[in-house]
Amino acid sequence: MERILFSLHRLRLMCLQCSIAAILYATFPATHVLADMPVGRCINIGNALDAPFEGAWGPAITEHDLDWIAGAGFDTIRLPVRFGSHWNGRIWPGFLARVEQVVLQAQERGLTVILDLHHFDELMADPDTYAPVFVAIWAELADRFEGHDERLIFELLNEPHDRVTTARAMELYQSVLPLIRRKHPDRWIIIGGGDMNSLDEMLTLPEMGPNIALTFHYYTPIQFTHQQQAWTDQYFPPTSWGSAFERSAVRADIARAARSDMPLFLGEFGVVRKADTASRNAWIETVRKQAEDHGMSWCYWAYGAGFDLRDFRGYEWYPGLYRALME
Ligand code: BGC
Repeated sequence: MERILFSLHRLRLMCLQCSIAAILYATFPATHVLADMPVGRCINIGNALDAPFEGAWGPAITEHDLDWIAGAGFDTIRLPVRFGSHWNGRIWPGFLARVEQVVLQAQERGLTVILDLHHFDELMADPDTYAPVFVAIWAELADRFEGHDERLIFELLNEPHDRVTTARAMELYQSVLPLIRRKHPDRWIIIGGGDMNSLDEMLTLPEMGPNIALTFHYYTPIQFTHQQQAWTDQYFPPTSWGSAFERSAVRADIARAARSDMPLFLGEFGVVRKADTASRNAWIETVRKQAEDHGMSWCYWAYGAGFDLRDFRGYEWYPGLYRALME
């Protein structure tokens, strides 16, 4: 009897602790030490240096773009770069010089730059053959950017998929981390899991040591965020978003990502410009605020690339979008 009473007491105590935890959690959601990573509000400059060549998928990056980005209140750009197909024993010198030029031009405007190895399709299809190229690329980048201040961050591999599972990606990261750390002992480095940097794969990654942040990409529901595009595998017709159920599902996902104790970086999220304005703004604001409430820094996809923030004819923000993303 005593044991039963004790158990009941313990149960009640546990329930009390649960309620206190629930109240505390609601009042002070889990936060991460990400304030230490010098990234707050970031914008992806996608479809430029990650295209087969700069200009193939949209306009080349100009100093005017960087002025606009810094003036709009972003502190960071994520620069996706297709190094994999600009490599022939070493990174094409002219291409690397162009990448460095953009890095310097952004930093001159006070922007931090996340240099991201993007669209390495050859590696995804055949990691055994291309792993040495991955190592060679990071060895060269580690040399080239040695001595840069902390406003440069390395993101080792965008969206591992196909034959690059999370386990394979971890092997790739382990193969370059020591050589990067020799020249960049304190630099922030970002890594993510397989399945296109999915949230669930990210949550399986182990603790990786100081100054390493985990990333995930978020576009759920894809039928809404990627609607009316000719380039997606499947065509999604126009659809709106914003019911209470839909909002709470998105909030729950982002809260789930925050289970990780590592510094977190929501490296891509966005909605195509073709979605209706009210739904688009609501989704962006919901995701952005939930990420901030959980101490994550974030990076909107993208400056252009059909997910645009601004009307490139008049250089104005699309209606309501500044409020949704920045306020
Ligand atoms: C890809 C882009 C794509 C975006 C949204 C990025 O990771 O590189 O090509 O537009 O995700 O799907």
